[in-house]
Amino acid sequence: MNSGADYSSGTGATTVVGSRALPLTVLGFETSCDETAAAVVRLTDEGAQVLSSVVHSQITEHAAFGGVVPEIAARSHVEMISGVAARALAEAGLDYADMDGIAATAGPGLVGGVMVGLSFAKGAALARGLPLIAVNHLEGHAVSARLGAQIAYPFLLLLVSGGHCQLLEVRGIGDMSRLGTTIDDAAGEAFDKIAKAMDLGYPGGPALERLAQTGDGSRFALPRALLGRKDCDFSFSGLKTAASRLVETCETDQDRADLADAVQTAIARQLTERSERAMAAYAERHEHRMFVVAGGVAANRTVRRVLEDAAAKHGFAFMAPPLAYCTDNAAMIALAGAERLALGLTSELDVAARPRWPLDEARAMADPVHQKVGRKGAKA
Ligand code: KG4
Ligand code: ZN
Repeated sequence: MNSGADYSSGTGATTVVGSRALPLTVLGFETSCDETAAAVVRLTDEGAQVLSSVVHSQITEHAAFGGVVPEIAARSHVEMISGVAARALAEAGLDYADMDGIAATAGPGLVGGVMVGLSFAKGAALARGLPLIAVNHLEGHAVSARLGAQIAYPFLLLLVSGGHCQLLEVRGIGDMSRLGTTIDDAAGEAFDKIAKAMDLGYPGGPALERLAQTGDGSRFALPRALLGRKDCDFSFSGLKTAASRLVETCETDQDRADLADAVQTAIARQLTERSERAMAAYAERHEHRMFVVAGGVAANRTVRRVLEDAAAKHGFAFMAPPLAYCTDNAAMIALAGAERLALGLTSELDVAARPRWPLDEARAMADPVHQKVGRKGAKA
């Protein structure tokens, strides 16, 4: 029986097979960018237990190019996936026979990489007679804070990564609506591009954070985007251009550290301003006020601190995933898979890899920014 949640335009529909009792143990795969990851997560009535989480980073393979090269990424996933899967099972002390399901990121992301993880998961599911759960990478980030603590739905989520920058109302698995998104770059992309202009290497976010520690950005005036608007959308392209120009004026190491601090402060401030608007709107609809920040940029200590202060100011509890689960990992995919499995939401074996797959598809398609996207569909 097909559920209403057919995300895949014709092929590989999500199927409801009847809900499953906890505990559920799921092997998850993540291959949408430059990490080959596999993890075993057990979902119990007391929350999630990460039994293993193996992440093979390809950073050294892409560093020379200043960013992720899709063909290199896909080839490396092919080489690593089998060993990473075996390690995840061995570290959990379990075998395929102990699994209740196999989950994999099915998009959005670099499609060559997504296909590697999804195909491997399909093969394992078919060979072992286990249900397959195709997971939206963003849904993985959305549940990632639940890996470290018992966080009940609903909550307000700021998802800030290299590819995405969105505010979402998360009512449950598969039930999320978008309150705002970036109209150009994602916050992590801004960190990475500015860091690249400063010759800080790849990935730039952590390097820029390290440099900012010894800086004082107060002498640089960076632009503040979309100030006249009342919505929760983000824009980082003006900041990127302004910062890239200022790099050329930097003469000393101290100048560069000061600029790094100014950039980090400006990004954190914009994230906070939009989150505060979303908190005000969210608080009108929900009595339970919980604010969660997830995604790679949530690893940034300044970003966490200012968001935590903003949450406190608006009467929201604040949660962020443990640092290891901020950046891409498979534990978050396994958990999203286990939560889907518990609801009986599994996927057909012909489910397609989707380079573009918005979490809140209805909202994304209604947005004029995304209308002229042709057959590919809205990005995020
Ligand atoms: O979630 P993630 O691993 O991948 C995506 O789904 O995009 O996020 C990676 C992004 C990169 O842009 C990286 O520079 C950024 O997160 N990032 C950081 C920090 N750690 C990772 N940005 C700022 N400060 C950090 N400490
Ligand atoms: Zn991610």
